[in-house]
Amino acid sequence: MNTDKKVIVITGGAGGIGQTCARVFKNNPLIITDYSQESVDKTVASLIKEGYQATGIACDITDKKDVDKLVDFTSKTGELKALIHTAGVSGTVQDLKKVFTIDLIGTDILMNAFHKLATKDSVAVLLASMMAHVVPANETYDKALSNPQAPDSFEIVRPFVNNSSDMMYNFAKRGVILLSHKYVDAWGAKGARVVTVSPGVIETPMSLKAAEEHPERMEIIKQATPLKRNGKPEEVANVIGFLASDAARFITGTDILVDGGVIHNIKKMEHV
Ligand SMILES: NC(=O)c1ccc[n+]([C@@H]2O[C@H](COP(=O)([O-])OP(=O)(O)OC[C@H]3O[C@@H](n4cnc5c(N)ncnc54)[C@H](O)[C@@H]3O)[C@@H](O)[C@H]2O)c1
Repeated sequence: MNTDKKVIVITGGAGGIGQTCARVFKNNPLIITDYSQESVDKTVASLIKEGYQATGIACDITDKKDVDKLVDFTSKTGELKALIHTAGVSGTVQDLKKVFTIDLIGTDILMNAFHKLATKDSVAVLLASMMAHVVPANETYDKALSNPQAPDSFEIVRPFVNNSSDMMYNFAKRGVILLSHKYVDAWGAKGARVVTVSPGVIETPMSLKAAEEHPERMEIIKQATPLKRNGKPEEVANVIGFLASDAARFITGTDILVDGGVIHNIKKMEHV
């Protein structure tokens, strides 16, 4: 992929999709960031061993000071090409507030902070989920999802999710797509793009954990997938590599589903 040898920052860089994304960018300096320094160091060491140019810094994306440190580290490393934001938790974290905070507020904090590093042809690629597409539009919660750092946002969204962290995950991911709409003009004014990617079931530690908790549901989803299989991290990473490249330079403010075509069938089901 032609990405000008500028810096690629990958949040959740020690995770399943994050690590695979790193390997798409052979010619760019990579900044791997994740929650724990240990997992960052391990990932950076294996990337360097494989011939990639990688450095790393730990960052809790829900902590503004940590994110400021990441922005500072990035600006000292080089010019920003892409912020690839894969850090997140699934609904298996049975804490509604935690899911909302990590998946949605964390994304808002990052997008705010990285705006100052965006220049012509930079891009932010945010990981949403196909499950964002099962949440219908609604004036009340959409406003809260678009402004997740407002003090009452979580309480506005909470009554809509029936105490289910899986459902909160779907709402938070709808929020990620809404955030891409919120930031697209400010990034566009600098010639930079914002895109979301909505994976289906991709075989990573996150989905394997979900599969352990809901084996029947995972089987139903597989059978409902036109391609009759789950996705592989490479199948998401290659799309992200394209979106980060100049070949995608007129794609912004939109969501790309990478789900094997399953979401349309899921929407027809009552309970999944
Ligand atoms: N795997 C799937 O089937 C699937 C499907 C749809 C969407 N997604 C989305 O894709 C993204 C990546 O998923 P994955 O499968 O690679 O998950 P993963 O669990 O393998 O990786 C996620 C990474 O995020 C990091 N993280 C969590 N909280 C953090 C925090 N507060 N600060 C910094 N880092 C934090 C974790 O340490 C982990 O390394 C997630 O946003 C996920 O919601 C995944």
